[in-house]
Amino acid sequence: MSSLLLTGIGELVTNDLTHDGTPLGLLTDAAVVVEGRRVAWVGPRRDAPDADAARDLGGRAVIPGFVDSHSHLVFAGDRSAEFAARMAGASYRAGGIRTTVAATRAATDEQLSAHLARHLEEMRRQGTTTVEVKSGYGLTVHDEARSLAIARQLTEETTFLGAHVVPEEYAGDPDAYVELVTGPMLEAAVPHARWIDVFCERGAFDGDQARTILAAGAANGLRGRLHANQLGPGPGVQLACELGLAAVDHCTHLDDADVSALAASGTVATLLPGVEFSTRSPYPDARALLDAGVTVALASDCNPGSSYTSSMPLCIALAVREMHMTPAEALWSASAGGARALDRDDVGVLVPGSRAHLAVLDAPSHLHLAYRPGVPLVQEVIA
Ligand code: NIG
Ligand code: FE
Repeated sequence: MSSLLLTGIGELVTNDLTHDGTPLGLLTDAAVVVEGRRVAWVGPRRDAPDADAARDLGGRAVIPGFVDSHSHLVFAGDRSAEFAARMAGASYRAGGIRTTVAATRAATDEQLSAHLARHLEEMRRQGTTTVEVKSGYGLTVHDEARSLAIARQLTEETTFLGAHVVPEEYAGDPDAYVELVTGPMLEAAVPHARWIDVFCERGAFDGDQARTILAAGAANGLRGRLHANQLGPGPGVQLACELGLAAVDHCTHLDDADVSALAASGTVATLLPGVEFSTRSPYPDARALLDAGVTVALASDCNPGSSYTSSMPLCIALAVREMHMTPAEALWSASAGGARALDRDDVGVLVPGSRAHLAVLDAPSHLHLAYRPGVPLVQEVIA
C-alpha cells in the first residue's frame, strides 16, 4: 500500500481533543500521512515520518470531511413553486411531500439513480464525504424497496422512511398504512437499509404509531432515528430518548423536559438550519441544548421541499449567525457530531485508523467557513 504525506497544513482540525484540549483538536503547521483508505499518522510537520509521496498544501486549513447525517435524496421533480409561494407568505405543511411522491413513483430507476449521484457529487464538491440517505418518497412496497436499493449503491448509510407521510391512497385508513409499513414494506426494505426513521409530527405519524414502527424495525435489525418536534411540540424527542435512539432530528420546538431528556440520554440532537431558512421559521435553540450538555449534530436535510441545500458550509454559517453556535461548535457538529448521529467512529475525525476523508479549504482557518458565507471555500476533497 503506498503512502502519501500531506504537509503545509496551516491549520488542521482533527476533532481529537488530545492535541490541544479543545473539541476541534487543532494543530498548526501540521502534517497527515494517508495510507490506502486510512489515516496513518497525524501530527506537527517537524515530526512527520517519511512516505512514498508528498504534497504541500500551501498553508491551507484541512478539516475532516463533513458527515451529513440527514438527507432525502432519492426523489424526482421540483417544488420551486412551493418555495416561491412560501416566500410570498404561505406556510410549510407536511402534505407537500405527496407532490414529490407522485414524481418519484413516475421516475425510472435510472433517473432516480442519476439524480442521486448528481446530488452526492454536489455535496462532495462542498466537502461532504459521508451522507445518510432516506427513502420516503415511494411509499409503496416496490417504490420504497427500489429507493433504498438505489441509495445503497452509493452510500452505506441508508434509512427506511416508509413512515414519512400517509400516502393519498391510505388517507382514509392510516392504521392500514402503518400495518403495511411494519409488514411487507419493512420486509422489502431490510436488505437495503441500516436505519429506520419516522416523521413523528402532527399531519404525519403520532407517538404511538412511531413507537410501533420503530419496534418493528428494531425486531428486524434496523436501528432507529426520528424526525421530531419540527413543526410544533410533540412526543418525538422524549420517545427517542426513552428508546435510546442514535439521533432525533429537527428539535425545533422543545420544552425544558425535552432538553433535560436529551441531556440525560445518549441521543444526539440533529439540528437542520436549512429547514428554518427555507421555510422561514424560527431556528431551534441550539444554545439551550449545548449549555445543557446535549450532543448536537448539524445536517442539511437536503430534500426538494423543506430544505433544498446540499451545503454543509451554509448550515455552519446559519448555525453560527442564527443559532448562536460558535464556529468551533458548528464545525464539530457538522463532522464529529454527524458521525455520532450515525454511530460511527471512523469518520468525522482525523486520527490514525480513521477513514482518510479530508477537505482542504482555500482559507487559512476553519473560521472562514462561517466568516465567508456563500463562498466556495472547499478547494479539494481527498477521500
Ligand atoms: O425533514 N419533515 C419531514 N420530511 C422532510 C421534508 C420533506 C418534504 O417536504 O418533502 C424534512 O423536512
Ligand atoms: Fe428530513
